[in-house]
Amino acid sequence: MTMLDRLETLYQQASAELAQIASSEALADWERRVIGRKGEVTLLLRQTGQLPPEERAAFGKRANEIKALLSEAFARREEEIREQELARSMEEGQVDVTLPGRKVARGRLHPATQTLREVYAIWAEMGFQVYRSRDVETDEVNFGLLNMPPYHPARDMWDTFYTTEPGVILRTHTSPGQIHAMREYGENGTKPIRVILPGMCYRYEQITARSEVQFHQVEGLAIGRGIRMTDLKGTLTEFARRMYGAERRLRFRASHFPFTEPSAEVDVDCILCGGAGCNVCKYSGWLEIAGCGMVHPVVLRNGGYDPTVWSGFAFGMGPERITMLKHGIRDIRYFWGNDLRFLNQF
Ligand code: DAH
Repeated sequence: MTMLDRLETLYQQASAELAQIASSEALADWERRVIGRKGEVTLLLRQTGQLPPEERAAFGKRANEIKALLSEAFARREEEIREQELARSMEEGQVDVTLPGRKVARGRLHPATQTLREVYAIWAEMGFQVYRSRDVETDEVNFGLLNMPPYHPARDMWDTFYTTEPGVILRTHTSPGQIHAMREYGENGTKPIRVILPGMCYRYEQITARSEVQFHQVEGLAIGRGIRMTDLKGTLTEFARRMYGAERRLRFRASHFPFTEPSAEVDVDCILCGGAGCNVCKYSGWLEIAGCGMVHPVVLRNGGYDPTVWSGFAFGMGPERITMLKHGIRDIRYFWGNDLRFLNQF
């Protein structure tokens, strides 16, 4: 077979093969084998020099012609296959735009967070900024500096989680934040303070419908010159009216906390029955919302203030209780149980 014959045969075969090709992978393979840099046509062309001189021109001309023809055919086939593949993929991934869309799962804030934000907003309007104190506290700040030295019987009011590190506990209330706030903001007892201290508290308690081992408190602290019990009463009354309604009445009952003197517990007239008596207020007409008092001189001194010049009030409230009252939640365990059936309702 002459080289020209081989060329023509190759041309016929390659053309026939090209017509059969249906995928872009096979097409790429064909291109490499036939017209690529090391393809058969290219190799034949390179052998032109081995022909007798008088045959070289004709062979070279034909070989270049065939290479051009095959290249054109290749480009046409490539375009056809591209279109076929596009059509196929459009068919496979067909989208019915008339179908209803997938429902978006909307996120929401935890009910405790919603209440906290409401509480922050009200206190912010009244000039109290948020101070964040640590959850892991020392025995000294949680108790000692709050006027409860070691072995003081009042410590028994709080069932405490101890860590393996001596003297390190989980805070049982947000009151130790008062010490941190006074020391950090007070500038050695020279600056007034108005803060709320929100945060999680921890108590080693039997978990029941009414008590959890973790819960939020929002502490409040105001330090200044000439702050009096009437300021405390007026401030908490204003808060309660903004939180529970303008008509609310408050009742201050004498109580005892080691870090305040005098101390009180605050009741608001029942937000459900308005004081007439119902099962939520246990037919008393009142709901307890906070503990409070005038900051004890010992605590003021531990915060860096001279108690003969400075005075202040403090309070602590439990927002989970507020949320339970508002939504009629009968069991506090729902809060941290992560049950979506509960959480989805808010
Ligand atoms: N820390 C108290 C508790 O956990 C609540 C409390 C009472 C906070 C009186 C205060 C306060 O700031 O003045 O039960």
